[in-house]
Amino acid sequence: MIPAPRSVRRSAGPGVPLDAATTLSAGPGTGTTERWLRLTLGAALGLSLPPAPESAGGPENTSGTESATGAENAPNTVRLRIDESLPPEAYVLDADSGRGIEIRGGSGAGVFWGAQTLRQLIGPEAFRRAPVRPGVTYTVPNLTVEDAPRFGWRGLMLDVSRHFMPKDGVLRQLDLMAAHKLNVFHFHLTDDQGWRIEIKRYPKLTETGSWRARTKFGHRASPHWEEKPHGGFYTQDDIREIVAYAAERHIAVVPEIDIPGHSQAAIAAYPELGNTDVVDTHSLSVWDTWGVSKNVLAPTDNALRFYEGVFEELLDLFPSEFIHVGGDECAKDQWKASPAAQARITELGLADEDALQSWFIRHFDDWLTARGRRLIGWDEILEGGLAPGATVSSWRGYRGGITAARAGHDVVMCPEQQVYLDHRQAEGPDEPVPIGFVRTLEDVYRFEPVPPELTPAQARHVLGTQANLWTEVMEDRDRVDYQAFPRLVAFAEVAWSALPPPAERDFADFEERMTAHYARLDALGVAYRPPAGPLPWQRRPGVLGRPIDGPPPNV
Ligand code: ACM
Repeated sequence: MIPAPRSVRRSAGPGVPLDAATTLSAGPGTGTTERWLRLTLGAALGLSLPPAPESAGGPENTSGTESATGAENAPNTVRLRIDESLPPEAYVLDADSGRGIEIRGGSGAGVFWGAQTLRQLIGPEAFRRAPVRPGVTYTVPNLTVEDAPRFGWRGLMLDVSRHFMPKDGVLRQLDLMAAHKLNVFHFHLTDDQGWRIEIKRYPKLTETGSWRARTKFGHRASPHWEEKPHGGFYTQDDIREIVAYAAERHIAVVPEIDIPGHSQAAIAAYPELGNTDVVDTHSLSVWDTWGVSKNVLAPTDNALRFYEGVFEELLDLFPSEFIHVGGDECAKDQWKASPAAQARITELGLADEDALQSWFIRHFDDWLTARGRRLIGWDEILEGGLAPGATVSSWRGYRGGITAARAGHDVVMCPEQQVYLDHRQAEGPDEPVPIGFVRTLEDVYRFEPVPPELTPAQARHVLGTQANLWTEVMEDRDRVDYQAFPRLVAFAEVAWSALPPPAERDFADFEERMTAHYARLDALGVAYRPPAGPLPWQRRPGVLGRPIDGPPPNV
């Protein structure tokens, strides 16, 4: 099983068959898992999993406490129950030839994670969308699994700006996250190279900002261009669908609108957002190459009001407690050169351009807090002073996260050195568009999100961890699969499974479990990197990646 559960006790017996007679008894609060089991396992095994009849429990069902459905202890029933004595995301899965299968969870989420374990116990065929062995009955072995996650934030960030991922690909990604018990989807929706979400009051954000005429193929020093338009965006109904689909899978979607840097696509759409006294923003277009654009938002009231309008629509679409405002890599060149920006610094009594960036972020910290939400930003938001309510995504190593946690702020650990999955996963000339240093499956597996420098009280501010997929050199879904898998599987275990004493993970054991897991990924149709290296069509011969000694951020 992956991620490894806390404990598994196997017991004697023939196991529990899943067949046409198998019924589903879903107690109050377990509807998401009930629907998911019918949709997913039902389709894979060709079973309808009808509701358990009222009195299926028979004479032994006299305990009174859990007799609502009458299906207690029926050997051919899968029972889903909330057990409030468990922590919310914890579950106990019990499979017994005499009593059937029961998944108890501390909440609907716990039950859902238990169902993910059940799927792994059935076999790789359970990961397909239709039966491949009709007539075969699958059996769940007699066992008890007790499990709970180490972290509450088990995230994946997907950059859909550099390369757009059509909605179906996003829904599939959410399915892949759920299968690995990941529960936060950080949706990087805007950047210099594209604006990907419909904002009704500013239609040019998508009319102009959602596409570019051509795209650099490879690292920015590569001579190659993909000479065709690239673009796409999610309508507000697409976003509602994505958020609802995620919620059915107990995944929170944290949207990111990156400010005040990484904003060239927005400025190309609305030139008045830029520093018009130092650059002709009317001649800007959506960026077609990689790096950090110098075109950043002007520190004007107009820009603040504009983005309040964006965030107002965002809050209507995303129920997430956290809203990500980016804040990374805001080039200060234009603010230094702009008389208007300098006058703003003076007027606000600020020390410098870092403080101006901090002023920007503080404004939205107050704004989001007043609306019952929490601001999260990349660790550059520490520069010039951290906004009081801010949570930090620590990407430039652990340093930002340590500083923030010591100051009493919450942190999500996602250091580039460990969990940036755009980095190449092996040495050698065959890795497609190799980015920076090598991060192998084992490197990711050995990643420890909580730095030893933190006291136990400070460490409690580490909400969890996330892996980040920046897509400059991932031009389509298969390239994203290749970079994400199998390393995201190792990451899922880091995020979910307890750190075994003596605080060292057993990679050989993980690799052995990966053998079974590759069969599941095959059944799911994931274009992972095979252990022996890329398949011929996964290579990109001659396309330059980022040299190992190149600059650290992104490509
Ligand atoms: C980042 O990688 N610029 C957050």
